[in-house]
Amino acid sequence: MKLIVAVIRPEVLPAVLEALYRLDVQGLTVGRVQGHGGERERVETYRGTTVKMELAEKVRLEIGVSNHFVEPTVRAILASARTGEVGDGKVFVVPLEKVYRIRTGEEDRAAVTPVGVDPHSEPAGA
Ligand SMILES: Nc1ncnc2c1ncn2[C@@H]1O[C@H](COP(=O)(O)OP(=O)(O)OP(=O)(O)O)[C@@H](O)[C@H]1O
Ligand SMILES: [Mg+2]
Repeated sequence: MKLIVAVIRPEVLPAVLEALYRLDVQGLTVGRVQGHGGERERVETYRGTTVKMELAEKVRLEIGVSNHFVEPTVRAILASARTGEVGDGKVFVVPLEKVYRIRTGEEDRAAVTPVGVDPHSEPAGA
C-alpha cells in the first residue's frame, strides 16, 4: 500500500477530483496548505540582504491506495493537474504500513480498496 500525497494548484482541484472519481478512487483527504516551490524574494534588512521564503496557496491531497492502484492514480493526477507552468506541484508516493477502517476494524487492502472493487475477488498481495 502507498500513501499518495499530491500538492497541486487550488484551481485544478475540480479537474483532479473528477479524474480520480472517474478512476473510482474513493477515499481521499483534501486540505489547504501553503508551500514553497523554489521561488525566492529578496528582502533588505539593516544588516544587509536576507532571503525570505515565498509561500503560495496550494491544495494537498492524500490518498491511501493498494499497490495496483498506485500507477493509475498517479497518472490521473499528473494528467489533470498539469498546466505546464512553474508551480504545478508535486506527487509523493510514500510507503504505507498500516490502514484501519475505524467503523469495521478492517485492515489494509480491505480498508483502502475503492468502492466497486470486491477486495476478496482479487489476487492477494496487491
Ligand atoms: N521538495 C518538496 N517537499 C515538499 N513539498 C514540496 C516540495 N517541492 C514542492 N513542494 C510543494 O509543492 C508546491 C509547488 O511546488 P512547485 O510546483 O513550485 O515545485 P517545483 O519542483 O519548483 O516545480 P516547478 O519547477 O514546476 O515550479 C510548493 O508550494 C510546495 O507546497
Ligand atoms: Mg517551483
